[in-house]
Amino acid sequence: VQDLRDLARKLRINIGSAVDVAVLRAEPDYKARLNREFDHLTAENAMKWESVEPERGVYTWQDADEVVRNARRNGQQVRGHTLVWHNQLPAWLTTGVENGTIGATELRQILRDHITTQVRRYKGQVRAWDVVNEAFNEDGTPRQTIWLTHLGPGYIADAFRWAHRADPHAKLYLNDYNVEWNVPKIEATLTLIKQLQAQRVPIDGMGFQGHLGIQYDYPGDWANVMRRFADLGLEIAVTELDVRMVLPVTPEKLATQADYYGRALSDCLSVRACREFTVWGFTDRHSWVPGWFDGEGSACLLDENLAPKPAYDKLLTTRRVS
Ligand code: G3I
Repeated sequence: VQDLRDLARKLRINIGSAVDVAVLRAEPDYKARLNREFDHLTAENAMKWESVEPERGVYTWQDADEVVRNARRNGQQVRGHTLVWHNQLPAWLTTGVENGTIGATELRQILRDHITTQVRRYKGQVRAWDVVNEAFNEDGTPRQTIWLTHLGPGYIADAFRWAHRADPHAKLYLNDYNVEWNVPKIEATLTLIKQLQAQRVPIDGMGFQGHLGIQYDYPGDWANVMRRFADLGLEIAVTELDVRMVLPVTPEKLATQADYYGRALSDCLSVRACREFTVWGFTDRHSWVPGWFDGEGSACLLDENLAPKPAYDKLLTTRRVS
């Protein structure tokens, strides 16, 4: 096995990465490596609402288009990220809702237009959409977002139905973090999916973000959790895997990190429905981790110079067991 694309072919899954479009344009070595290693792409920020519609009615698709174009040229599939979320919303929207100039009826229409416009634009070019991202709190209660507060819990079913109408062939996902292990969140998410299915809402998949850290135990029950979602008939994806550590880096920490990456891939491979394994950035040169967790970093498969870390080598030797 030469590289991750080679591995993906042998394992018959897709192996993807989040891509930073500014870096894709500026750094040829980043671009070459991305395209050599990965057969699936997710825009790290470029498809989020604040990126595609920074001002009301003013669409800026250049960065999102760049990801899709790169994918087409390099034989990669695309995960669309993300249609309904509480973060990275444009200021015109959040301000309008806060000061009451945008009421509930209008807000529902705005969300419907957003989903329809974006999904239609990439019809046939996005394999899977993260339709609703991070809908639950850690205790399993619904997250109080502008969507829940102003539209009520039905916004989730509506979002899936609107997305399905705009591209009937795209796989439609719920996506969240800590669902790898957090029992209240797991149960709440399973309950929601069963309710959606009972209402014939077109939901196809469950995305596990997989933001892990070696200072915490590996989520040892993850494969079983994946299986519970797969048993509902859903496709499974690991959508944003990274494994951070408290700095400084040591050989021991890199070995533990390699073990976590390898177990995550093994867990995915142990569940037939798990068909995509995507990392949230592939090089420590560009990772969200140091900016968000003080004193932590080194979360990716390659170092700042794009040299493979033990975690990368570990993935290359991972095989299906059953
Ligand atoms: O684009 C602006 C730039 O113009 C400005 O000068 C700069 C100064 O702060 O900020 C830039 O925006 C940043 C943006 O990333 C693009 O780089 C934001 O500050 C920063 O907050 C934003 O962070 C992103 C984060 O989502 C925000 O929610 C991360 O890059 C991105 O990796 C992260 O991704 C999320 C997934 O979408 C959902 N799951 C969790 C995951 C990690 O938080």
